[in-house]
Amino acid sequence: MNSVVALVYLGSASLFILGLKRLSSPDTARTGNLMAAIAMLLAVAATLVNQQIVGYTWIVVGMVAGSLIGVVMARTVEMTAMPQMVAVFNGFGGGASGLVAIAEYLSWTQGGALNPGGEVSMMAGTVIGAVTFSGSMVAFGKLEGIVTERVVTYPLQKTGNTVLFLGILAAAVLAALSPALNVFLAMAAGTLLLGVLIVLPIGGADMPVVVSLLNSYSGLAAAAAGFVLNNYALITAGSLVGAAGFILTVIMCKAMNRSLTNVMFGAFGTGAAESAAETGERTANQVDAEEAAMLLGYASKVVIVPGYGLAVAQAQQKLKELADQLTERGVEVKYAIHPVAGRMPGHMNVLLAEADVPYTQLYEAEEVNPEMPTVDVALVVGANDVTNPAARDDPESPIAGMPIVEVDRAQNVIILKRSLSPGFAGVDNELFFMDDSYMHFGDAAETIPEILSAVKDL
Ligand code: TAP
Repeated sequence: MNSVVALVYLGSASLFILGLKRLSSPDTARTGNLMAAIAMLLAVAATLVNQQIVGYTWIVVGMVAGSLIGVVMARTVEMTAMPQMVAVFNGFGGGASGLVAIAEYLSWTQGGALNPGGEVSMMAGTVIGAVTFSGSMVAFGKLEGIVTERVVTYPLQKTGNTVLFLGILAAAVLAALSPALNVFLAMAAGTLLLGVLIVLPIGGADMPVVVSLLNSYSGLAAAAAGFVLNNYALITAGSLVGAAGFILTVIMCKAMNRSLTNVMFGAFGTGAAESAAETGERTANQVDAEEAAMLLGYASKVVIVPGYGLAVAQAQQKLKELADQLTERGVEVKYAIHPVAGRMPGHMNVLLAEADVPYTQLYEAEEVNPEMPTVDVALVVGANDVTNPAARDDPESPIAGMPIVEVDRAQNVIILKRSLSPGFAGVDNELFFMDDSYMHFGDAAETIPEILSAVKDL
């Protein structure tokens, strides 16, 4: 029986790897997701035939309750609330792995046997699991607006966290040398507190990066639980999540041209700087819906740059209709997708996929940039930072070095947003004041349909 279980685990681990590989392209992502789900089903089924199981009642109760909650959450969650849901799931994953480690420790204090190296895995599982759980709950609270989204700073913050971390480390060593329940529980409590203290200071807008990092931690916690239980499938799946989450974190930081240290400790995104644009020192060209429609309708090539504001306005369907209308008129339309446009990885891809925009129309920023001078109109919809030329031209800018969609090099730029306010980074955008830039102010949920009907009337 054991060799059958080991074989099923091996098959499940292979399916996880293949599924993850398929997630790298939108075309294959759905089947990749399905493969990973089947892999998880196989792993659960193989675990259920484990001969050490003493009773199935609580397992069934847990599975039914968990499945119900999972299905309801996945079916009802709004697309814009996806980061919160991921945060909660990470937290539960980390918490579950931590509880496995704690249960093993309790059994050890009562004379139970440990796997070789079990002491280290139990400590790692508890510490990483607890930090992931409490950190993810704070991240969820910030994204949901229950916990302050502001950057929270106070005196001796880093020193306090370092002292707490060293205390946890010392307690972990003590608790691992011989069973010492009180020291172990104090360590677990300290770790929960550390998770809160690490995430609380970080601004709400940086939460997607934090969630991605916590996702990586939840994988490491699961891998540690795998070592505690000597379960190969858990070790493999946990390591995959750990590595994938970390790679995603690094990709996000790179696309923002910020270091992970800057995200975690940089108190960024406070939006505190006063905007010269907002104070009325500068004026920008404006167009109405009819003028915007004329520019778009008589163009040969249009590049659409969606950003966070499109997600806020939920105007993706109308945007697609506008793009289709332009295509019908013979205009070549492309969408330029910046890797950190929006507030979560792949935000724009998901948003446009919801509106059934074909993947073939989506281009990465660096693919579109070289042809920008031949683009008649760049239509910027609720995007700001990802189009800011200061990132390329001003080495002193807070976003200096961040790759951008170079719409300023297009023949004309139409910008749809509600005001001249800066975006996430709190930095003014020179693009709004250029000669060939035209602002069309308003909520994209209203301005896009207006332009669409004006294009139809041309
Ligand atoms: P932002 O620079 O944040 O700009 C979005 C703009 O949308 C705002 O300036 C806002 O201007 C406008 N807007 C909001 N609601 C709107 C509505 N209903 N209709 C029309 N416009 C609306 O967004 P971006 O260009 O997508 O850049 C993303 C930023 O987030 C980057 O700085 C990136 O580093 C950061 N970030 C991204 C991620 C990921 S993974 N995507 C994670 C963390 C941080 P008004 O208020 O004037 O309308």
